[in-house]
Amino acid sequence: MANTIIYPGTFDPFTLGHLDLTQRAAKMADRVVVAVAQEVGSKRTLFTTDERVAFAKEACQGLNNVEVLGFSGLLTAFAKQQQGNIILRGIRSGADLDYERPMAELNRKLTPGLDYIFLLPEPELSAVSSTLVREIARLGGETHTLVPNNVEQALRQRFGVS
Ligand code: PNS
Repeated sequence: MANTIIYPGTFDPFTLGHLDLTQRAAKMADRVVVAVAQEVGSKRTLFTTDERVAFAKEACQGLNNVEVLGFSGLLTAFAKQQQGNIILRGIRSGADLDYERPMAELNRKLTPGLDYIFLLPEPELSAVSSTLVREIARLGGETHTLVPNNVEQALRQRFGVS
């Protein structure tokens, strides 16, 4: 059976941690879909869905079996529509695992045949989060070791740093 990994997230913005996981997933599966969530509850995103999709697409350009798509509604419905059989999430800490476990358990309960894999980021990327990247960029800090070049440029433009 062909494996399709769905890698969902807000990706606001896509970081080197996300890229690391996508690259590793691309070696494990026939196809990987980076699934950019359009709705993120009450959270407001810094970048629009189109921008978040475009950043991830550009960063994943060299990965032939990776697609980047926006999605709305239930992740499980999107996974089914894409014939995805595995959902991938990154785990940086115990807090991440506590957040992920109920979602994974419910999604598996709702969707027979769906499984999950969790990957640890490379140690040098384990502290990287989109939230901290946005904060650092907003305050004029350097983000080139945290995000792909295209995202770094977009952050500079957004926050008016030359
Ligand atoms: O990067 P994030 O913000 O941690 O990603 C969270 C995301 C988008 C993966 C999660 O909120 C999600 O799956 N949203 C889609 C809606 C859904 O299926 N909700 C039910 C979860 S049990």
